[in-house]
Amino acid sequence: MDYKIAVLPGDGIGPEIVEQAIKVLNAVGKKFNHRFDFTEALVGATAIDRVGNPFPEETFQLCMDSDAVLFGAIGDPKYDNDPKAKVRPEQGLLAMRKKLGLYANIRPVTTFKSLIHKSPLRRDLVEGADFVVIRELTGGIYFGEPRGRSEDQNTAYDTCTYTREEVQRIVKLGFEYAAKRNKRLTVVDKANVLATSRLWRETVQEMTPDHPDIEVDYMFVDNAAMQIIQWPRKFDVMVTENMFGDILSDEASVITGSLGLLPSASVGIHTSVFEPIHGSYPQAAGKDIANPLATVLSAAMLLEISLNLTTEASAIREVVDRSIEEGVITEDIAEGKAYRTSEVGDWLAENL
Ligand code: IPM
Ligand code: MG
Repeated sequence: MDYKIAVLPGDGIGPEIVEQAIKVLNAVGKKFNHRFDFTEALVGATAIDRVGNPFPEETFQLCMDSDAVLFGAIGDPKYDNDPKAKVRPEQGLLAMRKKLGLYANIRPVTTFKSLIHKSPLRRDLVEGADFVVIRELTGGIYFGEPRGRSEDQNTAYDTCTYTREEVQRIVKLGFEYAAKRNKRLTVVDKANVLATSRLWRETVQEMTPDHPDIEVDYMFVDNAAMQIIQWPRKFDVMVTENMFGDILSDEASVITGSLGLLPSASVGIHTSVFEPIHGSYPQAAGKDIANPLATVLSAAMLLEISLNLTTEASAIREVVDRSIEEGVITEDIAEGKAYRTSEVGDWLAENL
């Protein structure tokens, strides 16, 4: 089959890690007889520099016309300490989420046996941890109106809004994931304080009778932050609103000791987007040292979720496992010899 993939390398290490995922996808194409057509487009700070818009219309159109989007990273330190910047790379990411209707961000948290000693947690706590964080991605305080400043500039406000429908569609996905996994769904909210959280809880309670085989529990977000590091193994599927999900998924990602290895998928109404969860790591940009595995594993999610190619996705996961076992890894996780980004990509493509 022929598939159209939009490639949005973005900023920092984005281009070099995406390049490795493309090598691996081409190897998959060769082995399994598929043709992947890759078309690149601008996003993030690079897009601001080139065309003044972090998510240009052409990029949006390309995404709409593709079967899936492979995304690198966005962010540039030159914007981080400039709260007055009129256009920011992150706006490109938010615009992409909104315009593609990507209401769900799926982040699987898995541990890799040979890397557990890198975890900040004790081995006995984290070994075997395996859960999925499902974060609502197009609602809540990230998008709510009104937002802004008072006339005298001395007060600022953001608004957290959710509709019942927005909650239903993301929680539905949570139930679906739980059904495919260990049948446990943890709903994270702050229902003791926030009206939006009470709507979340009420909506989930309305939905639970339709899913008698799923064990649902509710957890306040502060407690969840604590339990993720105390008992990471107890979670199966966690579903939560946009900002809580932003925070908890970063927390969850480091307990495995392998931040450079975790992929993500953003899915919703139009084309889905697949990206590593680490950022643009500007200090490493262009040095050929960044870990490409999270992007390669995101390509595996792309095959599985957007193209329904599960055997091909497993082939990628297997070759990634092998590269870790055989020590063909970059300096962030290597103990002895470290390989370059491009060498890891070449090895994966050859050994798939
Ligand atoms: C993420 C990032 C983004 C977010 C930023 C870059 C806007 O932290 O994808 O988790 O907050 O959603
Ligand atoms: Mg984040």
